[in-house]
Amino acid sequence: MQVAPLVAWLLSEHEEELDRQFDLEAGTLFGGFKKDPNDFEWSFWMEWGKQQLVRFLLGHMAVSQVAGVLARKHRPWILGAYGMWASWCVLGAQGTAIIFLHTLISFCVAQFQSQLLSWLCSLFLLTTLRLQDVEEVKRGWYQTENEYYLLQFTLTVRCLYYTSFSLEFCWQETENSFYSFPWLVAYVFYYPVFHNGPILSFPEFITQMQQQEYCSLKSSLSAFALGLGRLLCYWWLAELMVHLMYMHAIYSSAPLLRAVSCWTLGGLALAQVIFFYLKYLVLFGVPALLMRLDGLTPPPLPRCVSTMFSFTGMWRYFDVGLHDFLIRYVYIPVGGSQHGLLRTLFATAVTFAFVSFWHGGHDYLWYWAALNWLGVVAENTVQRLVQTPCIQDSLIHFLSPQARRRFHAAFASCSTSMLILSNLVFLGGSQVGKIYWNRIFIQGWPYVTLSVLGFLYCYSHVGIAWSQTYLVD
Ligand SMILES: CC(C)(COP(=O)(O)OP(=O)(O)OC[C@H]1O[C@@H](n2cnc3c(N)ncnc32)[C@H](O)[C@@H]1OP(=O)(O)O)[C@@H](O)C(=O)NCCC(=O)NCCS
Repeated sequence: MQVAPLVAWLLSEHEEELDRQFDLEAGTLFGGFKKDPNDFEWSFWMEWGKQQLVRFLLGHMAVSQVAGVLARKHRPWILGAYGMWASWCVLGAQGTAIIFLHTLISFCVAQFQSQLLSWLCSLFLLTTLRLQDVEEVKRGWYQTENEYYLLQFTLTVRCLYYTSFSLEFCWQETENSFYSFPWLVAYVFYYPVFHNGPILSFPEFITQMQQQEYCSLKSSLSAFALGLGRLLCYWWLAELMVHLMYMHAIYSSAPLLRAVSCWTLGGLALAQVIFFYLKYLVLFGVPALLMRLDGLTPPPLPRCVSTMFSFTGMWRYFDVGLHDFLIRYVYIPVGGSQHGLLRTLFATAVTFAFVSFWHGGHDYLWYWAALNWLGVVAENTVQRLVQTPCIQDSLIHFLSPQARRRFHAAFASCSTSMLILSNLVFLGGSQVGKIYWNRIFIQGWPYVTLSVLGFLYCYSHVGIAWSQTYLVD
């Protein structure tokens, strides 16, 4: 037996099958427990981290500290030049050249100061990432598929960066010397966020870089050590899950998912979303730590998924950098939520459609987007209804605060069940979503469905209490 007792208890019937079918890898951590390599994103970034990225990120830290002492005024240019050099080493001359070319094209189009043209340009550049002929050319530059993927991911994330510059350029009221090509290059090639984000808008970047209040490594050593210690804990926990729980391997087998008990199915869903959270604590935590040392304020790290009880909250607090980007450059420009219900429906649909297209536009992403759109719309509609004076007065008159909170939690439990389902579609594909839908809501009605909703009702109470206690805004 190579699994921990609890998991062994759950999976004992299927372990050999898993081992045979999913090429579990021999792990070096945790006393030889086998490792599940089926979460592509985690395996990909951990592999790249070990191979090269950690070295270049440490290099960035050293260069930034030295530049802060010796040439503080020129630090943005030095860091931009370092980012280009690191990109050259990791992605090669052609990879760096194509990122530079996209940046240059976006800059040239921005000169027309037309929002529409800027967006069309960004969408066009994004589309070129999925043209088969272009893909083949890029594959030809590299020896491994992983190198090609790294370029694709980098270009996808860079798209949001030059789009931010381009739209800000259109909106500037007076000529501003910061809206120049050298600043754009320094922004696009800022290395801590280069390959995978998080997203920081152009105005935030230049304002914070201008402040020059960077913390020297010496003065912030304790904060750095604490941040690093936390990151190592998150990484260790994520690795522990990958070595003990095998949820990604199980998710890649539909027959297995259909065979396990409903309790296991629920546990697997919980493990999936918690792993997703831990993964992003690490993937965004590393750049955030380096940004802090550079005197920049990174977007807050994802809020724990166990405290989420609504679609709206999930997207507001999970990837805050991306949410701010979407609000500023997509949602508000197409109407936002201050011009009536229809406009809000439209703006929300456009936002989710953009995210789905940005992620690659696969079928399962459109299902995910549609589910999320429905979820956000349903929540906003209920919120608007509840806020109308006559309903609000009746609720206050007839229900005690505790009863109102119970109603809130009951509604939130339905919302959370759909939120988890939509995230399972995102993480496991539409087939996984279908299996969950059938087993929990169709075949499982009424006992399984009501048990799940009952569990999520308690879960929502925790989330509501947590947000009332800790949330400032
Ligand atoms: C669609 C989406 C943008 C809606 O976000 P939301 O926070 O519920 O939107 P709201 O209607 O509350 O508006 C957000 C803010 O913009 C403001 N706003 C909205 N419309 C506005 C307008 N026309 N003019 C000015 N401000 C406006 C609101 O007042 C609000 O401000 P506040 O935060 O200070 O209260 C959000 O759900 C989202 O980001 N979805 C995509 C998430 C995603 O796909 N992430 C990636 C997953 S991998």
